[in-house]
Amino acid sequence: MEKIKIKNYPMVNSTPIVLAGADVNGKPNYTTIGAFGVVCEGPIFYISLKDTHFSTIGVRENGYFSVNIPSADMIEKTDYCGLVSGKTIDKSHLFSSFYDEIGKAPMISECPMNFLCKVIQTVPICGFTVFFGEIVSTFISEDCLTGDVPDPLKINPTLGMGFRYFKLGQSVGVVFKEGKVIK
Ligand SMILES: Cc1cc2nc3c(=O)[nH]c(=O)nc-3n(C[C@H](O)[C@H](O)[C@H](O)COP(=O)(O)O)c2cc1C
Repeated sequence: MEKIKIKNYPMVNSTPIVLAGADVNGKPNYTTIGAFGVVCEGPIFYISLKDTHFSTIGVRENGYFSVNIPSADMIEKTDYCGLVSGKTIDKSHLFSSFYDEIGKAPMISECPMNFLCKVIQTVPICGFTVFFGEIVSTFISEDCLTGDVPDPLKINPTLGMGFRYFKLGQSVGVVFKEGKVIK
């Protein structure tokens, strides 16, 4: 198939859109994040936060952030948290927040899955800081499990690609199994 060279297009991530949580001035603040992911086999996530964001203050001060996976039916609040800054609008009452015993970052009860992450490394890049966080606790809504395993279709995350939101379709295979037909 013929290829067409287009302008550079970095927005190809299809990782879930997440809400990063941090306490700022003693109140929860939540920010929509597309630059989120897994970096290695260990329980480590990264989020890339613009230095001028309100949440960035809280992540730096507390050394912790939360990653909350909103379900696709939370799309309006998910988008809203990326439209307005805690600098001018209080986002603390948008969700009901909970903390684990460490108490260092707020998590969102309404989100099916939540992770508390302790910052272990930071990398400044082009006005952003990439925060690498070790996952220190994980929570899931009971109805999003199948057996004792988190079920992606029940979690129903929102995926972002380009400037549109999507939700998961169907599973097309099992990891480390499908390739065996070629092996
Ligand atoms: C879908 C979406 C993805 C976003 N991804 C990021 C991101 O990865 N990093 C970032 O710094 N800002 C990102 N933003 C922008 C912030 O969410 C937005 O500027 C927010 O208002 C900052 O809030 P705060 O100042 O309360 O922290 C994204 C916004 C949207 C709508």
